[in-house]
Amino acid sequence: MRALPVLQLFFLATLAATTHGSFELDIADQIIHLLRPKTRSGDSHVDDNVSCLSWRLGVETHNIIDWTTVPAACEGYAGDYLLGHQYRKDSEVVAHEAYLYAESLNLTDDGNNLWIFDIDETSLSNLPYFADHGFGVEVLNTTSYGAWMLEGIAPALPESLKLYKKLLALGIKVAFLTGRGESIRNVTETNLMNAGYDSWEKLILKDSSYSGDTAVMYKSSERKKLEGSGYKIIGNIGDQWSDLLGTNVGNRTFKLPNPMYYAS
Ligand SMILES: *[C@@H]1O[C@H](CO)[C@@H](O)[C@H](O)[C@H]1NC(C)=O
Ligand SMILES: *[C@@H]1O[C@H](CO)[C@@H](O)[C@H](O)[C@H]1NC(C)=O
Ligand SMILES: *[C@@H]1O[C@H](CO)[C@@H](O)[C@H](O)[C@H]1NC(C)=O
Ligand SMILES: *[C@@H]1O[C@H](CO)[C@@H](O)[C@H](O)[C@H]1NC(C)=O
Ligand SMILES: *[C@@H]1O[C@H](CO)[C@@H](O)[C@H](O)[C@H]1NC(C)=O
Ligand SMILES: [Mg+2]
Repeated sequence: MRALPVLQLFFLATLAATTHGSFELDIADQIIHLLRPKTRSGDSHVDDNVSCLSWRLGVETHNIIDWTTVPAACEGYAGDYLLGHQYRKDSEVVAHEAYLYAESLNLTDDGNNLWIFDIDETSLSNLPYFADHGFGVEVLNTTSYGAWMLEGIAPALPESLKLYKKLLALGIKVAFLTGRGESIRNVTETNLMNAGYDSWEKLILKDSSYSGDTAVMYKSSERKKLEGSGYKIIGNIGDQWSDLLGTNVGNRTFKLPNPMYYAS
């Protein structure tokens, strides 16, 4: 029942100034330009380190669990992966499969078909923050990460935004379900809208009454409430296994990559 740092961040109350001038966001073209990453850039090293590739595969398949930081020897590898083409290609495959599935259902729009989107590293990308602060222990710095969240300028993960729009066009409703706390509802709404997510059926943030519960317990409980009120969760997409495990997970789940952090 380890409450992980990334989830605790959202209860943070202080706002500190931080610089984020290292990236340029182009919503229209769905491109994230990272101009000043603190790691090596480009894809050239991504395939080099077989040990780190095995580590990433272990993380994505949920064989390696309860880890807290990227192994020091793999920080450069993780940075290259995330800032290079592979992360985007992997995300695109996930989003594309999700769309093919949704489309194949030939749903009749009865107004109850719902798709769950997680927020961080799913709908929104905190990559500009990680590019500035590195992919290692700094991930755990609640002060600087919390300040970044409160700026409300995280760009969309472009592949997820495309999926979101296509699902809406199929008549599927979207609910955002996040470990972010209620205390940052406003900035989260603003951030979602600025990133291109302009409407939603529900935006479920974590009430402080859930403190102590794991993400799996919290998210299962919220999904159960949704199904109890008549929604049919036909799909569910997230970057953490805790978004996709537990109960009421939906007819199909889709796992986006995230070798940066783990939340149980
Ligand atoms: C590859 O990763 C291993 C740890 O898994 C590390 O010991 C080694 O230094 C790394 N090699 C390179 C070239 O980054
Ligand atoms: C959806 O419609 C297509 C085209 O009519 C059809 O080929 C497919 O079998 C249908 N899928 C389901 C799940 O009914
Ligand atoms: C965390 O970030 C804050 C704000 O950038 C900084 O002042 C502090 O030294 C950092 N703490 C650690 C342990 O790195
Ligand atoms: C959130 O926004 C609403 C109006 O949209 C405002 O009334 C409320 O005070 C805001 N809450 C916080 C915590 O900023
Ligand atoms: C989703 O799963 C439920 C329960 O197994 C089933 O009744 C329903 O037909 C499924 N819906 C779709 C769209 O596959
Ligand atoms: Mg997430």
